[in-house]
Amino acid sequence: MGKLKTLASLMTLGACFFAHQTMAAGGGTHMESADIKPDNISSLQRGARNFMNYCSGCHSAQYVRYKTIGKYLELSEEQLIDNLMFNAEKTFETIQAAMPSKDAARWYGTPPPDLSLMARAKGADYIFNFLKGFYVSPNSPTGVDNLVLSGTSMPHVLWELQGYQTANFATHDNEDGSVTTTFDGFEVLSAGAMDAEDYDDFVRDTVNFLAYIAEPVRAERRKLGVWVLMFLIFFFILASMLKKQIWKDVK
Ligand code: HEC
Repeated sequence: MGKLKTLASLMTLGACFFAHQTMAAGGGTHMESADIKPDNISSLQRGARNFMNYCSGCHSAQYVRYKTIGKYLELSEEQLIDNLMFNAEKTFETIQAAMPSKDAARWYGTPPPDLSLMARAKGADYIFNFLKGFYVSPNSPTGVDNLVLSGTSMPHVLWELQGYQTANFATHDNEDGSVTTTFDGFEVLSAGAMDAEDYDDFVRDTVNFLAYIAEPVRAERRKLGVWVLMFLIFFFILASMLKKQIWKDVK
């Protein structure tokens, strides 16, 4: 019985592990698909450039080394140094935010999270919609709110590219007296440097890069998970053999 129980819990553990691996990719139902192309190296190169120019001021990617990116993105050492490394001297350094996290927490209320694993945690579609979801909200300290993360303290850092938009909401009175608010589309308030299509591409490339940097770490974690499971199984066999051995003489 005890053995069965142990086996059952081992199997549950395994099932949880694999379920987690597949589930984390999901997102909300109303999300637009990011439609990223992980194999497209030029898209990843543009994404890396976007990230360094528009995000790394506040966000770190502290599990990622410049050297690793450079190799994967087929950049020469010079290209790497000239185009991506504004904030580092050696190619083996990891990506640190220009703004110290403590200061950022003071400025924004919430410290900007490390983005190494963000695509893994929230999904590419989520970030795609988040970066497209800023809309003007006079009540917010940053002047904007976000459709995906309501009340966010991240400012609309891409406003020069996207411009500003407002969000329309429709309200429905329900029979039980409650009110449901549904999103009813964005409206352009002032145009940015890019049209909607180019902005989508810009965001898509950036998200593609974030998905790529989250990937090697994920692969490593999965490998580690398999080792842990194998260890548990091995240990279980060892323990049950030991138990047999010990109880043999008692009977
Ligand atoms: C001026 C500083 C600043 C810049 C630049 C910035 N962010 Fe942020 N970001 C923040 C802050 C602050 C938060 C925390 C927001 C919160 O939790 O409400 C955040 C949160 C996020 C989150 C997490 C959202 C969530 O659901 O928790 C993502 C994803 C993100 N930023 C992506 C980006 C990307 C991509 C860029 C570059 C295009 C970028 N950020 C540039 C300040 C910044």
